Amino acid sequence: MHQTNASPQNIVILTGAGISKESGLDTFRDADGIWSKVRLEDVATPEGFQRNPALVQDFYNDRRAQLDHADITPNPAHQALAHLEREWPGEVLIVTQNIDDLHERAGNRNLLHMHGELLKARCDSCSNLFQWAVELTVETPCPSCSQPGGMRPHVVWFGEMPLEMDRIYRMLEECSLFMSIGTSGNVYPAAGFVSHVRQMTTAHTVELNLEPSTGSTLFAQTIYGQASEVVPAYVEKILSEGLPG
Ligand code: APR
Repeated sequence: MHQTNASPQNIVILTGAGISKESGLDTFRDADGIWSKVRLEDVATPEGFQRNPALVQDFYNDRRAQLDHADITPNPAHQALAHLEREWPGEVLIVTQNIDDLHERAGNRNLLHMHGELLKARCDSCSNLFQWAVELTVETPCPSCSQPGGMRPHVVWFGEMPLEMDRIYRMLEECSLFMSIGTSGNVYPAAGFVSHVRQMTTAHTVELNLEPSTGSTLFAQTIYGQASEVVPAYVEKILSEGLPG
């Protein structure tokens, strides 16, 4: 392990659907991605949920059930980030746009799900939040207030406010390395994190993705390849050599 100076250097890692692709979960905007099969306006907006709640519940029920398949497991990219969290002397925070639980299963504990979690549901009537591993329907009563009709996936839809933004911006402003992994850079506020880091800090910024993202030119360093290959290699490099620069 490499220790560069007395004050710990913090790392913030933004992840997107690309990190879970090799675990068997589809991305959104690739040619065979989720948004090529369903309209995001129908399943990922409050208006879509109002129009057809059963369709939206079914969409997330299918995705929740998929997480239970034996072949959906963390891949070497998730595992490398868990290794980094264990070994790095400073704080390693993962900010994920993903609603799957593969980072947790790999062993990461310092993790924020800014777009929510498939394995949680909440009640619009009483606002309580629940761990949720089974189907949700429009009739599902809330376990807390017993009202039917108010339960929804704990997922941030387009037009809603992502979660934990205060803590995320605070950590971005205190980091020495910002990594962006497997995200196409199309969705804000996550797509704006790299600019924020560059304005507010002297941190190194690196994109690891299959191909250049929309904001690729904003990064000081870019590395392209499958996440399962480029992420473990990058993690090993910073654990043995320290941060670039
Ligand atoms: N390794 C690394 N990157 C990959 C891999 C892989 N094996 N496979 C695909 N990618 C890259 C793609 O090239 C693409 O740039 O991952 C990126 C995935 O981009 P999107 O599908 O747009 O997913 P993401 O950026 O996470 O989407 C952000 O959009 O619809 C919403 O709420 C949803 O959280 C999601 C948000």
